[in-house]
Amino acid sequence: MVTGGAAGIGRGMVEALLEDGARVVIADVEAPVLGATVSELAGTGEVRGVVTDVSAAASVEALADDVFAHEGACHLLFNNAGVTSGGGGRPWEQEANDWAWCFGVNVFGVANGMLSFVPRMIASGEPGVVVNTSSMDGGIAPVPYASVYASSKAAISCLTEALAHQLVAAGTDIRAAVFYPSGGLLDTGLWTAQRNRPAALARTKPRPPAPGTTFEEFKEHLVASGRTAELMDLRQLGRFAVDGVKAGHFIIGHGLEEAAAMLHRRADAIGEGRLPPAALS
Ligand SMILES: NC(=O)c1ccc[n+]([C@@H]2O[C@H](COP(=O)([O-])OP(=O)(O)OC[C@H]3O[C@@H](n4cnc5c(N)ncnc54)[C@H](O)[C@@H]3O)[C@@H](O)[C@H]2O)c1
Repeated sequence: MVTGGAAGIGRGMVEALLEDGARVVIADVEAPVLGATVSELAGTGEVRGVVTDVSAAASVEALADDVFAHEGACHLLFNNAGVTSGGGGRPWEQEANDWAWCFGVNVFGVANGMLSFVPRMIASGEPGVVVNTSSMDGGIAPVPYASVYASSKAAISCLTEALAHQLVAAGTDIRAAVFYPSGGLLDTGLWTAQRNRPAALARTKPRPPAPGTTFEEFKEHLVASGRTAELMDLRQLGRFAVDGVKAGHFIIGHGLEEAAAMLHRRADAIGEGRLPPAALS
């Protein structure tokens, strides 16, 4: 089961799972893209789509009913769907609706997946893994102009760690893993996530987009600041995530040594009561 698997990184995961012979259910809110992806991948294995809004508990519960009724089990749950409230900007300029939408999908979406699937996965008595997609932005250190998104991803890394411990402590055969999409610049639909924003959670005040919030601008910013701006292939990234799960890793990500170095710098600052360094600015 892959949420947000119709496109981007989730689609890469779906393709890798199909290559490995898994039976895959894709849950995604964007019905036309979901339909097109399922048709394109149909020749490569057993795959079907269920239109789902992960931010709505009832929608995810209906998804779990569907998966357990038709597939009989769920061994791998990828809580991957995510959005960014977008536009960058200062934390005090983010609206309540930015928080509601971003946390609705990124945090409640993962919580809903956990609540609807994990008890049934445990009850099945079969082994399984819950893989939550976080981000280095927030999961490791916040990018200051992405405060809402970073806060949502910090919650996912935190939740997944707690979940992993509790799944072991409860003696289950289910494990948890956290995935940090990384390895290069990711040209996905995240940059245009607003396309899926419900009208009820639209911004109420116009806000000019902050610099660096389109894919092209972000790429230029990386190049200008001497950082690598090489594209990461999304199929390869999906394969990397699935292989990480197969290898039993709790943390799945490229550049973990660099992340650890950043965490050491953060820890030094925290130990001295100082503001930790900004991740990217
Ligand atoms: N692209 C990056 O640079 C990057 C970096 C780190 C983490 N991530 C995370 O990776 C995950 C995948 O994002 P992506 O970059 O592939 O973006 P994407 O927009 O290409 O894919 C996200 C998918 O989630 C779906 N989705 C959005 N809202 C949904 C909802 N309410 N219910 C169900 N599905 C919904 C979209 O339709 C889309 O198919 C996200 O959690 C994102 O935060 C992305």
